[in-house]
Amino acid sequence: MPVLGRDVRVPLVTGGEVSYAALDYAASAPALQRVWDEVAAYAPYYGSVHRGAGHLSQLSTDLFEQSRATVARFLGCRDGAEGDGDDVVFTRSTTDSLNLLASALPEGTRVFVFETEHHASLLPWRASPTTFLDAPHSPGQAVATLEAALRAAPEGPKLVCVTGASNVTGEIWPVRQLAGAAHRHGARIVLDAAQLAPHHPVHIGELGVDWVAFSGHKLYAPFGAGVLAGRADWLRAAEPYLAGGGASRTVLRGADGGLDVEWRTGPARHEAGSPNVIGAYALAAACRALSEAGFEAIGGREAELTGRLLDGLARIPEVTVLSLFGAEATRVGVLSFVVDGWNSSHLATALSAEYGIGVRDGLFCAHPLVRKLLGAQRAEPGGCGAPEAPGEQSLNAVRVSFGAGTPDEHVERFLRAVGELVRYGARWRYRTEDGRCVPDSERDDDNDRAALAR
Ligand code: ALA
Repeated sequence: MPVLGRDVRVPLVTGGEVSYAALDYAASAPALQRVWDEVAAYAPYYGSVHRGAGHLSQLSTDLFEQSRATVARFLGCRDGAEGDGDDVVFTRSTTDSLNLLASALPEGTRVFVFETEHHASLLPWRASPTTFLDAPHSPGQAVATLEAALRAAPEGPKLVCVTGASNVTGEIWPVRQLAGAAHRHGARIVLDAAQLAPHHPVHIGELGVDWVAFSGHKLYAPFGAGVLAGRADWLRAAEPYLAGGGASRTVLRGADGGLDVEWRTGPARHEAGSPNVIGAYALAAACRALSEAGFEAIGGREAELTGRLLDGLARIPEVTVLSLFGAEATRVGVLSFVVDGWNSSHLATALSAEYGIGVRDGLFCAHPLVRKLLGAQRAEPGGCGAPEAPGEQSLNAVRVSFGAGTPDEHVERFLRAVGELVRYGARWRYRTEDGRCVPDSERDDDNDRAALAR
């Protein structure tokens, strides 16, 4: 599946330019060419959704609702005419979706969440009593930990929030088993599928989850839409997430001089304001493209590249790949690692400046997990210095991630680059600016000699 940006060339500090190797799909994946083409074909027909009598408003409203139906099919949503099925709500992102669900929890709901979650799944529940679960060391331990916590929990509504695939390690979590454990103890479960959905089928019924949240910009549709899909009952009973037009059916001045508002009950209840029809349309186009390509083919190609990356990194003794589940892990195309003697910010900057490779470094909005994996309780500020003691790991990590359209050459260039940087050092001089490592304006003569010797 071709993506945009495959012909983009970027300058190197060492001179000349190369084609950009986008290896940061876990942050934001490039748009599928097909998504872009479909959006471009629709754009001239763009009109307001649910608030216009004109032909293009009617067309856009139809396309918006058809996009909802496409996403529902992609996720295998359950029908339910009386609000006992699933609703698909268009949001801005996974973060927005999980905050929406957090705002819709019945009073007194206790939330169960592993400390290993991305901040989007860790932080929205702060207004609810929350049980934080320790990082498990195997998928089986994750299920046992959740079971034990649910067994010990007081009566009352309960929600489990779990990620499908870690944005740090790429490891896949045992979602079906966790859903089984949740339901055995009368809890509901929401799946953060931001990293899973681009790589694996996410079928609500087959996984047995109650809700799924994901983002368009990680699903090759970077037009500002996300999704919360799942059981309608809590969503329809809750106060609207955003108060405004579209969410309200009627608004009257009440006898007391205030406002009497009748809210809508379906997905529109939580979609106040003009809907992002381009974002929803793009997201639906991506769902169709992924379904047609087939997740078996997508997964096969990604497993091959993941294997190559793991083998290549294993041949560099200074590299440690981060993992929670160890040998038991199955992964999507996301890997984080540290290199003895290297600050991760320095390495990521040199990969960009000297090889045209885009990766991410830091704690990846999953601070407790990365700190645990690195055995550290504090993060080192970004910068170019090597860790204080020789051989000590830096206290942040480098992440490489890929997906549709990633050519072999990007993975090969990445492995060659890490190997050369670790063996010979950077060819350029770098300095710290505002906590980030940036290339200095002058070449480092000492390193230059080493570079010439390569
Ligand atoms: N959640 C995205 C990441 O992990 C932004 O990079």
